[in-house]
Amino acid sequence: MRQFENPWEKIELLDYIGHMSEPEIGQYQMINKYFKRIYQHYLPERILFPGCTSGNGFEHINRKRIKNVTGVDINETFLEAASQIYGNDLPLNLIHGDIQSLILDENYFDLVFAALIFEYVNIEKVLHLFSTALRKGGKLAVLLQQPIELKGSVSKSKYINLRILEPVINLISEEEFKRMALEKGFEPVEEKLVTMPNGKSFFQGEFNLQK
Ligand SMILES: C[S@@+](CC[C@H](N)C(=O)[O-])C[C@H]1O[C@@H](n2cnc3c(N)ncnc32)[C@H](O)[C@@H]1O
Repeated sequence: MRQFENPWEKIELLDYIGHMSEPEIGQYQMINKYFKRIYQHYLPERILFPGCTSGNGFEHINRKRIKNVTGVDINETFLEAASQIYGNDLPLNLIHGDIQSLILDENYFDLVFAALIFEYVNIEKVLHLFSTALRKGGKLAVLLQQPIELKGSVSKSKYINLRILEPVINLISEEEFKRMALEKGFEPVEEKLVTMPNGKSFFQGEFNLQK
């Protein structure tokens, strides 16, 4: 029988989307809207999506302008879904693996869109990877769930399978993240705090890479 090392590999796509789209949670829709805004603002030609799941927001990408969409995910079935939905329309490069141990082309991407992935990885290591993969002046857009006392890290919903993520989720404050990002050459350019109906708070931060 297959051994899963990371609980994310055990999550079913429909459970994930169902959970994230619940009206009280609303994170699926929020990420979609956030990516649309970022994409339309910067009009990047080469985009890296760490933890891309099945491609939430890819429908906003202009097929005529885009040169490369690289999606990385540890759950292979998520990538299969992304390939089925967008494989014919977008120049997709889907990589199955752990973002923490990847080697990517250097100075290549215009944008890294990192929505709810820093919660599951070694932040310093992954920020370093993004700083090498982005070209000078490239943009990093992050979405970080903010630590709030008395709120569980994984939102409660009828999708109880998602609770297996509780032991592996780590929340970082926006202040601490900005400090770490600056050390890797990322200058903050724009930021916003968004609160969802269930009271959870999210930091949307845009950074410019100075090399
Ligand atoms: C909370 S979801 C991110 C949401 C997603 N960015 C979106 O737009 O809806 C986290 C994603 O990261 C993936 N993931 C978690 N740890 C990972 C790792 N170490 N390397 C690559 N992907 C990872 C999960 O499989 C999942 O698809």
